[in-house]
Amino acid sequence: MCGIYGYVGSNAISKTLNGIKKLEYRGYDSSGIAFFSDTFKLNNLIKNYNNNVTTFKNGINIIKEQGEISKLEKIINVLNPKSETAIGHTRWATHGKPNIKNAHPHFSENGNWVVVHNGIIENYDELKNGLTSYNFSSSTDTEVVAMMLSKFFNGNVLETIVNVCSKLVGSYAFAILNYKEPNKIFVAKNNSPVVVGYGENFGVVCSDLNSVEQTKSLFILENNQFAVVEKNNVEVFNNKLEKINLKPFKDFNSESENSLGNYKHFMLKEINEIPKAIEKTVVNYNSFEKIKKAIPKSLIKKLKNILIIGCGTAYHAGLIGKKLIEEQCGIKTDVEIASEFRYNNFKPNKNTLAIFVSQSGETADTIKAVKMSKAYGLKTVAITNVKNSSICFEVDYVIHTCAGKEIAVASTKAYNAQITIFYLLKAYINAVLNDQPELVFEESKNLIKIANVIKNNKISEQTKQIALKIKDCKSVYLIGRGLDYYTAMEAGLKLKEISYIHCEAYPAGELKHGTISLIDENKYLFAFVTQEITKEKTISNINEVISRGGKVIVLSQFNINNNDFNEFIALPKIDQLYMPLVAITYMQLISYYVSVALNYNPDKPRSLAKSVTVE
Ligand code: AGP
Repeated sequence: MCGIYGYVGSNAISKTLNGIKKLEYRGYDSSGIAFFSDTFKLNNLIKNYNNNVTTFKNGINIIKEQGEISKLEKIINVLNPKSETAIGHTRWATHGKPNIKNAHPHFSENGNWVVVHNGIIENYDELKNGLTSYNFSSSTDTEVVAMMLSKFFNGNVLETIVNVCSKLVGSYAFAILNYKEPNKIFVAKNNSPVVVGYGENFGVVCSDLNSVEQTKSLFILENNQFAVVEKNNVEVFNNKLEKINLKPFKDFNSESENSLGNYKHFMLKEINEIPKAIEKTVVNYNSFEKIKKAIPKSLIKKLKNILIIGCGTAYHAGLIGKKLIEEQCGIKTDVEIASEFRYNNFKPNKNTLAIFVSQSGETADTIKAVKMSKAYGLKTVAITNVKNSSICFEVDYVIHTCAGKEIAVASTKAYNAQITIFYLLKAYINAVLNDQPELVFEESKNLIKIANVIKNNKISEQTKQIALKIKDCKSVYLIGRGLDYYTAMEAGLKLKEISYIHCEAYPAGELKHGTISLIDENKYLFAFVTQEITKEKTISNINEVISRGGKVIVLSQFNINNNDFNEFIALPKIDQLYMPLVAITYMQLISYYVSVALNYNPDKPRSLAKSVTVE
C-alpha cells in the first residue's frame, strides 16, 4: 500500500510534499517526487545529493529518499526546487528492499517517462523478459512500467499509456509524467483507489478522498479509466479513449486534521480518546430509528446467518461480534480473515448477511472479499471509520465508527469503536426479532457507562511498570477462553506490531496440547480471566504455566490474586459481557509503553502501514 499524489499549479512541489505527508499512513519505507524544471539541474547543491537526485535534459527531475517523508523534506528544503507540475509517492515495499533505488518515482532510461504507482503488477517478471535491452536500476514492478511506456511510445502520450496498461495484470493507480506534456499529469486506475480533480488554477491527483485538497470538482476514477489532469481541467477517458463525463464528488469528510496536542505519540492520544470514540459511536446509533437508517429491518428479519470478514485488528473485532451475536441473538455467525475468504470455494447461503470490518475502508483484501460476496448475491455491510473510503462505494450499507481519524498504525480507539458497534448491532437484531425497539437505547446506556469506566480508570502507572518488566523478553504468550481468547488475540497483535516481541495468543485450554512445551522462566504469559463460566478452568491453565516456571500476569475482575502470579491487574468490576471493551485498554497501554521503552516509534512501526491497499 503506497500513496500517490500529483499537483499542477503554483508551488506544485510543496503541495505534492504535503500531499504525500497526508498519505504517509499508507506506507513510509521511502518517498520521492518528480517535477518539471529546466533550471533545477544548474543547482550546485545537487552534487551533495548524488544518490538522491536524478536530472534529465528534457526538464524532468527526480528526488528520492529512504525512510520517512521528513527525510525527503529535508533535502527538498535545502535544494528548494520550484515547479508547476509535480508527482509524489510514499512507499510500503512490495517488490524490492525499502531503499533509494527502489523508491518511487521510477523512470524510463531516457527520462522521458516518470511513474508513481500504488498496487502490484503481477506479470512484471514476464514483461521484464521482453525488455532485455533496457538497463534497470531497481527491482520494482513499477520501473518495468516506465520502460514499457518508453518502448511502446507512439508519439501520443495517452494512447501509449492505455496500450501499456492493456498488457498489465494486477492492480495499479499510476500518476505519470511525460517530457512532451510538462503541464499535465496522466492517471490510470485498476483496482487501486485514486481521485482526480481541479480547482482555481490547479489540478490534483490523490490516492484517497480524505487526503486530497478539497476542490469543487473531484472525480473518483473507476477501473480501466484514464485521466489527464491540468490546471482548471480534468478529462477522463475509458480504455477505448472515449471521453467520459463523471459526476463530481461533493460529500467531503471535513474531519479536522489531527494534531498531537500534548501527547508524545498519536497512539497514546488515541488510547486516551477511546471513551470519546465509544461515546460518539454510541450517540450516532443510540436508537432503533438511527440504526434502522443504516441497516433496514427487512435485512435483519430474513437473515439466516452472518458472515463477518476483516483483517488484523478488524478481524479480532469480528470475533467479538461473533460471540455477542451468537450468544445474545442465537444467529450462527462465522468470521473469516479476508485474505483467506478470497480463496474459499464455498458459496455462503444467499440469506447470509456479510459484514466487513475495516478501519481505513481501503484494505485491498477486505474490498476484494466484498466484491466476491456481492458476486455470491449476499447483502453487504461495512463497519468503517473513514467516511467516503473505497469500501463505502462497494457495499450495500455502511455503519460508521465515530472514533475520529486514527493515525497511529496500531489500531486502538477504532477497535474499541468497532466492538461498540457489535454491541449495538446485537441489540438491534434482538430489537427487530423480538419487536422491542427500546433494546437499542438500553444498550447505548450500558455502553456509555462503560465509556465512563474507561475514562475514570487510571491505569498508566501499573501498565508502565509491567511494560518495563516484559520489554526485554523474547516471547510473550497470551491466553483466554471465549471473549477472553479474542481479547488475547488482539492484545498479542498490539504488542508484537509495535515492540517486535514475538507474541502468541492461544485458547487457554489449547496451551497444554503443545505450546506449553515452550514455557520456561524466560517467558511471560498474560491470562485474561473475565468470564465467570470459564474462570476456574483458566486458573488451572495458569497454574500449569506457573508450575513450569512461566511468569504469569493475570487480568481479572475476580478476587483470584495470589503470590504465584508475577503480576495481577485488577480490572474494574463491571458486567463481564463488556470486558472486551475494557481489558484491551490495559494491553494497548502496555504495548505502547514497551515500544517507547525500546526506543521504537509506536506510531510508525517497521514494515507496517496504516492501510494495506495491496493483496
Ligand atoms: C492493527 O493494529 C493493524 N495495523 C492491522 O492489523 C489492521 O487492523 C489491518 O491491516 C486491517 O486494517 P483495516 O481495519 O483498515 O482494514
